[in-house]
Amino acid sequence: MQRANTLKVPGKVIFGEGAARSVVDEAKTMGCKRLLLVTDAQVLKSGVLYDVVKSLSANMQVKIFSEVEPEPDIMTADLVTRTVREGEFDLVCGMGGGSVMDIAKIASVMATNSGDTEQYVGVDLLKEPGLAKILLPTTAGTGSEMTPNAIVGLHEKGAKVGVISPYIMADAAVVDPLLTVTLPAKPTASSGLDALAHAIESYISLDSNPITDLLSLRAIELIMRNLPMVFSEGDNVRARSAMSLCAMMAGISIANAGTCSGHAAAYGYAGKYNIPHGFSVAVALPHVLEFSLRSCPQKAKAIAETMGVATSGVSSADAGTQVIKAIVSLMREVECPTSLSQLGVPRAEIPTLARNMLKTARLLVHNPRSVNEVEAVEIITRMWEGKLGPS
Ligand SMILES: [Fe+2]
Repeated sequence: MQRANTLKVPGKVIFGEGAARSVVDEAKTMGCKRLLLVTDAQVLKSGVLYDVVKSLSANMQVKIFSEVEPEPDIMTADLVTRTVREGEFDLVCGMGGGSVMDIAKIASVMATNSGDTEQYVGVDLLKEPGLAKILLPTTAGTGSEMTPNAIVGLHEKGAKVGVISPYIMADAAVVDPLLTVTLPAKPTASSGLDALAHAIESYISLDSNPITDLLSLRAIELIMRNLPMVFSEGDNVRARSAMSLCAMMAGISIANAGTCSGHAAAYGYAGKYNIPHGFSVAVALPHVLEFSLRSCPQKAKAIAETMGVATSGVSSADAGTQVIKAIVSLMREVECPTSLSQLGVPRAEIPTLARNMLKTARLLVHNPRSVNEVEAVEIITRMWEGKLGPS
């Protein structure tokens, strides 16, 4: 019997070229008088949000918080908490990549929950709904605009942790592909590979459901086709639109089915070695799939067919191999490193990284094949070497 499924999505989603112009009306409809706008220095400097900020400022008081660094530390969460509590704001707007949107989500809930962010790290620990929030991604990948998660680093521990709660979900997600057109090639590649990891990990997740399956497979298909195009031809609006759609679809999938072993492995080293999130998960993906796909042979075949790399008669083992080859080939095409050694991680760190991977149990519970300590060491060793195929 098909079990009942719940689909968690933002209160409203506005998608399409020029959608950013609707932010002012959304803010006014929410009764906003004082807005905290969270962004980062790079986005501010790029001018991509100039028109939006101008029209917001003409209609309400706007304070800009732009001190969000890439892969933000929990200290940034504490800083935005102080800012939001000082200002009597009634709306938070996050405009930027995943890091910015995650800090905007934290600002919204820390305005109404006492204490500091660290005490809410975990699932469903927030006590009060936050301020209303609108999220506008300027990259296509993290899908943060669609999820109930805010991820921050505990840099002194070299770990990434999440505040996960329905109160973190956006009231409105405004996805305008035109905001991504000027994004440089490297963050375009990293965020696009993050979306691919979201789509694949949510599809093989034990918590996937018929709706997330559809979204994940369609995202995989479109990312394989469009990521090379946006990497080499940044102003290709049609390909940018497809990538924004994919990030959104894969975002809904991870909000409901979760990620699994790829993200569990990546959280163990991305913060400590300052690796862009998308590259950190992409390096893990071929190796965790080599380990995991044998436990979900039908899904391995479906991914291969969606990617167009295997015909219907192929064995599931061969289908899995073709999927992994296609991912590595895409990574090379968009100049993503394919091993931890290329990313500057010392070999001596392998046992620590394997232990870190196992500590991210909240993600590993979704993995189709359970991972023990010996297997984790083997997976991380192969990631370090960038080695695929039989031992
Ligand atoms: Fe991710």
